[in-house]
Amino acid sequence: MNRPLKLVQVSDIHFGGEHVAAVEAAVERIAEEAPDLLVVAGDLTKDGKTAEFDAARAWLDRLPGPRLVTPGNHDIPFAGPRELLARLLAPWRRYEQRFGGRESQDWDDPRATVVTLNSARAFQLRMNWSKGAVSRRQVRQACAHLKAAAPDALKIVVCHHPLIEMIGGPMTAKVHGGTAAALAFAQAGVDLVLTGHIHAPFVHPYPFSDGCTQAVGSGTLSVRERGVPPGFNLIEVDDVDIRITALAWERTRFTTFRTWSVPRRCVPQTSNENGATEVAPLVV
Ligand SMILES: [Fe+2]
Ligand SMILES: [Fe+2]
Repeated sequence: MNRPLKLVQVSDIHFGGEHVAAVEAAVERIAEEAPDLLVVAGDLTKDGKTAEFDAARAWLDRLPGPRLVTPGNHDIPFAGPRELLARLLAPWRRYEQRFGGRESQDWDDPRATVVTLNSARAFQLRMNWSKGAVSRRQVRQACAHLKAAAPDALKIVVCHHPLIEMIGGPMTAKVHGGTAAALAFAQAGVDLVLTGHIHAPFVHPYPFSDGCTQAVGSGTLSVRERGVPPGFNLIEVDDVDIRITALAWERTRFTTFRTWSVPRRCVPQTSNENGATEVAPLVV
């Protein structure tokens, strides 16, 4: 039996418009949870301003590591002539100076392999640049990395924009290449695709392949609420199930907003005393 795995998934903190009390309380709660990995699924800032990035970095440095960070559409400077110039000349400089490369970060463990990909774009051939895009090259690279995962490891992709639309969600992501990426990840046996952007938590399976690839969205820790209180996700994994808990800030504390439990795609295998591989018994 593998040790249980715990991830914390936060997104859309939007420093410059953060929910001050929730962000502060999240530091304590995340420290209590002591996750194996902290995942930050983009939109760390409101307008991509230097002071907002500095506040985001200072906050993340108070949280337990290790962490993986991927940018969102708000993490590119905009709003104002100087900001637009920064967007034009060096759209990712502020982000990358504080959080490292935007394209791909990874975390490898016998229990999970996690890779990020950047779904935000500085410019697009459409009016709304807040929407996402994923290229075939990005999908190929992520799949190649996940192929090298340990035999029983969960395969997890992190990006900012949900790759396919959430029916009834408070907003859309309209990701160019998103459906093809979701199909490829389902066929590659990806277990979880962790995203932000919607500002409301959700879990739903992709309607592709074996139906066991789960799209998992986290809410916001900002005041940009869309019908759901500020919050973030806990993801706990054992040999049988994946449990996702969306926490919500209620006046003075985080409470459980909603929980989901989904079975793992395959029960991890163990080796017997002769070195032969056998399926671990299901304990119900
Ligand atoms: Fe956002
Ligand atoms: Fe966003």
